[in-house]
Amino acid sequence: MTSSMDAILQVTDKTKLPQHVGIIMDGNGRWAQAKGKERVQGHYAGAKRVKPILKLAKRLKIKYLSVYAFSIENWLRPSFEVSFIMNLIKDYLQELRQEMIDEGVFFNFMGRRENLSKAVIKEIELTKEATKNNNTITLNLCINYGGRAELADAFKAMLQNNVKPEDVTEELISKYLYCPEVPDADLIIRTGGDMRVSNFLLWRSAYSELYFTETYWPDFSDEEFCDAVWSFMNRERRFGKTGDQVKKK
Ligand code: IPE
Ligand code: IPE
Ligand code: MG
Repeated sequence: MTSSMDAILQVTDKTKLPQHVGIIMDGNGRWAQAKGKERVQGHYAGAKRVKPILKLAKRLKIKYLSVYAFSIENWLRPSFEVSFIMNLIKDYLQELRQEMIDEGVFFNFMGRRENLSKAVIKEIELTKEATKNNNTITLNLCINYGGRAELADAFKAMLQNNVKPEDVTEELISKYLYCPEVPDADLIIRTGGDMRVSNFLLWRSAYSELYFTETYWPDFSDEEFCDAVWSFMNRERRFGKTGDQVKKK
């Protein structure tokens, strides 16, 4: 037990928790290089951190966890690294499926299907099907995901549905995103020391609280996840209002 975990668990008003946490799992390559290993060994070590963080998020009663595993831009990497990551995702889904069923995790895929291999799509579909009646926590695995691509796909679908310009509202755009039932991200964590969003959850991050840490993703501990959540719980979100207006609420 850690102090921030204790503090979070002691808060009885669960509305203070972030409902939706997004994680930009960055720094795998540098983690490996710092240890004199190959970059891909960092991806292997990074994949192993997803399960404990998912379990912890469930324990804290967070409802949605979105993890950025492969961006649309990541196809630009050397083909060896790309194939390694894709294989890892496939194996990881296979390995974790039963665990997700047992833990009541509802699995979602967020991203573009095009360019993903049949083998990866198959694992995604099997996992979605196996977890479709679960509702303890939703895991959104973001693969071949780009925030701009998500918006472009939404606008394309709106045009295909003959949506009239006067009917275009923010609410309607939200309904055309990938996994439209997933709410705005309350908290976005980025490991690895860079302070940027790298095309993650663009629409749903309009008012997200951001948490950056130097820690490389494979070293991101349960304690640090709790620190991030606790930091979120102690911030004042104003959504454009003044601090006084928010406090009076
Ligand atoms: C994040 O780690 C994983 C992916 C982007 C797939 P990186 O591979 O980007 O690690 P660094 O940033 O090069 O250290
Ligand atoms: C963001 O990390 C994407 C994922 C973690 C999957 P990158 O390593 O691709 O981001 P940039 O290129 O440094 O912005
Ligand atoms: Mg990186």
